[in-house]
Amino acid sequence: MIKIWSDHVRQAYASAVGRSRRELTTPALIMDLDIARRNIRFMTERLSTLRAKLRPHVKCQKSPELARLQVEAGAIGVCTATVWEAIVMSRAGIRDVLIANQVGGREKIGALAKAAAQGRLTVAVDHPRNADDLSAAAQAAGGKLEVLIEVDVGMGRGGVRSAEEAVALAQHVAKLPGLRLRGVQGYEGHCMLEPDRATRIHKARAAMDYLGTVIDSLAAAGFGCEVVSAGGTGTYDITGDNPRVTEIQAGSYVFMDNFHGNLVPGFSRALTVLGTVVIHHGRTIVLDAGRKSVGIDFVLPTMADYPFYQARYFAEEHALFDVDERCSLKLGDAVELIPGYAPTTVNLYDAYHVVEKGVVVDIWPIVPRGAGHGGLAMGEC
Ligand SMILES: Cc1ncc(COP(=O)(O)O)c(C=O)c1O
Repeated sequence: MIKIWSDHVRQAYASAVGRSRRELTTPALIMDLDIARRNIRFMTERLSTLRAKLRPHVKCQKSPELARLQVEAGAIGVCTATVWEAIVMSRAGIRDVLIANQVGGREKIGALAKAAAQGRLTVAVDHPRNADDLSAAAQAAGGKLEVLIEVDVGMGRGGVRSAEEAVALAQHVAKLPGLRLRGVQGYEGHCMLEPDRATRIHKARAAMDYLGTVIDSLAAAGFGCEVVSAGGTGTYDITGDNPRVTEIQAGSYVFMDNFHGNLVPGFSRALTVLGTVVIHHGRTIVLDAGRKSVGIDFVLPTMADYPFYQARYFAEEHALFDVDERCSLKLGDAVELIPGYAPTTVNLYDAYHVVEKGVVVDIWPIVPRGAGHGGLAMGEC
């Protein structure tokens, strides 16, 4: 089903190939491949001077093609938010895939176990009951599931809440057939948004120091951690330089939306949404790209050519900007928006218009997309 869906999407958007990036049917999702490649290269170079390896999070980009570029550039595998993303990546030939979240529900655990019988999949676990379910499914599928114990390092989402809980869970996992413990995950998500770099460094180091004490407790109980997975775009160079961390889960660096854009220097904006000026009255221009076309979480999108205007409002199908004499846009003009938040933007689209030197050179399907129905579309349930 993945191939049928991908082929269908490529065919449906084929007429865009060869067109200029400003001549597409709007709203259209555009990936500037030159810039994405530059971001990938920059991350590879930066991490080559640090201790940890890169395991890019693909929840942002949902593209096997892009994941392959990241692996070719030196990434050790990828991590995903959902089991469906993991299955897509594994089938696309990515050899070491981590689901950096807990997987719950019979169908999803069953699909995970089935996929793990065919490729290396690791999943985060933070509760003995979840471990029991994973073990039963792995045995039924005749394969092996690898697990990381997730440790809450301050974000307060997933993760065991103490070193004692981590040790008890490791002891529990060790007794379960079909599971193998590889190490720990300690995602310091509460540090990502800290705008002040000194404070971010302080908070991220405190989170990793705590993770270190949990690793020590696990070692004292006889559990070595070959994998210590943490970090994101906002902390990649801080957490990536921690001697105990083996891999960094940064993902958004590849596109750099407005949310992440100002946190870490050296990366450029590679993702835009093309809209058209469909209404123009006085000083108000309205684009045909509202909340159903571009992610507005946390930070609002901005116009690439006029970054100094803040949108007045993002309605479902319309983006309203109040402009002044600096703006030369007219009715019918094409406008590129930098998304506020890339992951929720990408998830709205079937495909990227892949652009090189201003021209669409390819169509890359976004798979799986949508709110968790990827599994049904792929016939996994
Ligand atoms: C578990 C986990 N790891 C890593 C990340 C980092 O992602 P990004 O680099 O996009 O900030 C996230 C983001 O939500 C996450 O949930």
